[in-house]
Amino acid sequence: ARKIIIDTDPGQDDAVAILLALASPDEIEVLGITAVAGNVPLELTAKNARIVCELAGRTDIPVHAGCDRPLKRPLITAEHVHGKTGLDGPVLPDPQMPLAEGHGVDFIIDTLRAQDPGTVTLCPLGPLTNIATAFQKAPDIVERIQEIVLMGGAYFEVGNITPTAEFNIHVDPEAADIVFKSGVPIVVMPLDVTHKALVTKPRNDAFRALGTKVGIAVAEMTDFFERFDKEKYGSEGAPLHDPCVTAYLIRPELFSGRHVNVEIETQSDLTLGMTVADWWGVTDRTPNALFIGDVDADGFFALLTERLARL
Ligand code: BDR
Ligand code: CA
Repeated sequence: ARKIIIDTDPGQDDAVAILLALASPDEIEVLGITAVAGNVPLELTAKNARIVCELAGRTDIPVHAGCDRPLKRPLITAEHVHGKTGLDGPVLPDPQMPLAEGHGVDFIIDTLRAQDPGTVTLCPLGPLTNIATAFQKAPDIVERIQEIVLMGGAYFEVGNITPTAEFNIHVDPEAADIVFKSGVPIVVMPLDVTHKALVTKPRNDAFRALGTKVGIAVAEMTDFFERFDKEKYGSEGAPLHDPCVTAYLIRPELFSGRHVNVEIETQSDLTLGMTVADWWGVTDRTPNALFIGDVDADGFFALLTERLARL
């Protein structure tokens, strides 16, 4: 199984991404979860990550709190999408499991130093603050990372928090810039692909029909989470942004994309956090990311439903 650290700001779609990973021990070994401020403030993302572990019956997973604000900017949150708690929808009990000791950034650093080089994959599902802070604090870890598979950015789909920027990148563009310039192999799940992973009514029914605590909670989460996208995009249901990351680790053949150069806009107020992807290869800038554009959505939902049934 591939060893991963999930860096996250739950978030209903983050929650589903975590559940999918925890349901897939043959392919994925979750070494730990680091929470970051994003969809809601850190206190809530650190709490929600533990709620999700308990829902999956995995109180053995260490959950560390990381950075509570972006590198250089005030935090922007997304209660308008995820609700006041960040995990609105199902009614889930407060977590009993404590936060693991130590800062999330130190957990990332220590884990990468302790494991064999090239054996740990980072899975960022929120703003890239924890990852960039770890790189700044311990540059030696950068070359020890196997791969970064992250949700963020957009190209043809442009933006969801500003006209030209996707939320995770926009919230901490300086952090994203550090990560994209790091030289680590990166796989990006932008809005271009995540807006194709839509929880339509039959797919939502399939979650609920599992009849399990997890299946029903996921159906209730996606019921809540679809409001924003239905209103804004006329979409058929909630886009499962972050689960694209963990699904890719299990079945990469469901996804396709291009190796392109991606640069992050950090200067312009107008386009702050835009992922400038050279999709057509019109520059000679070196490709630094596999930018995913398409997914076999039926295959993705079949995988997700089958795995959630195991929890
Ligand atoms: C991303 O932003 C968050 O609201 C979601 O959890 C996802 O990671 C989508 O733009
Ligand atoms: Ca997220």
